[in-house]
Amino acid sequence: MSLAFVPAGPARARTAILISGRGSNMAALLAAAADPAYPAQVVLVLANKASAAGLATAAAAGIPTAVVESRGFKGDRAGFEAAVQAELARHGVELIALAGFMRVLTEGFVAHWFGRMVNIHPSLLPSFPGLETHERALAAGVRLHGCTVHLVSPGVDEGPILAQAAVPVLAGDDADSLAARVLAQEHRLYPAALAWLAAGRVRLVAGRALVDAADGAGALANPLP
Ligand code: GAR
Repeated sequence: MSLAFVPAGPARARTAILISGRGSNMAALLAAAADPAYPAQVVLVLANKASAAGLATAAAAGIPTAVVESRGFKGDRAGFEAAVQAELARHGVELIALAGFMRVLTEGFVAHWFGRMVNIHPSLLPSFPGLETHERALAAGVRLHGCTVHLVSPGVDEGPILAQAAVPVLAGDDADSLAARVLAQEHRLYPAALAWLAAGRVRLVAGRALVDAADGAGALANPLP
């Protein structure tokens, strides 16, 4: 048994958010971290595309931003990650939150950050890893769908689960209406889960993540239709 992340001291954990696009989860994390009592401090927002809309949101909030264009590293994932790692080191980053970051990371990078890197995924993992999760949930006819925050392991959308929120799938849903219902829960779940990790409340036991949280660990939301 071991803590996933051990806070260095009373200072807030220096956290980078990695994005590829809109950045609404990033915005939810920034809003939470605006409270000085929140255990993570966002010191960097990094995008792999200069066109990522979330960069402007971060800059407007006064958060340092960086762009490492993945297009410039075609076929050279290690080179791309070395450039990302250099930015992380320059900002003294201790924790990484992937928020709609649509690049698959190499095993070496993931191993280096294991226990200190989280991701949010728009399904109840291990169901529907990968893309088009809402379309596939509708096609499968599931009655519950949702989102998952997990520690990042090698393998797409894999790793010990920190928290999940479930939402109902309603008769009239299309992918957009279902995505919106899930996204509202993502914005609630991610700040809570990152706070647990940053506060040193996540233990790794036999490959699973256990959360010591008086405010309710694990599944947070099962709203009734
Ligand atoms: C979110 O729904 C997030 O869960 C998903 O991308 C969206 C990004 O939106 N991530 C993945 O699919 C990762 N496998 P955002 O940029 O507004 O946060």
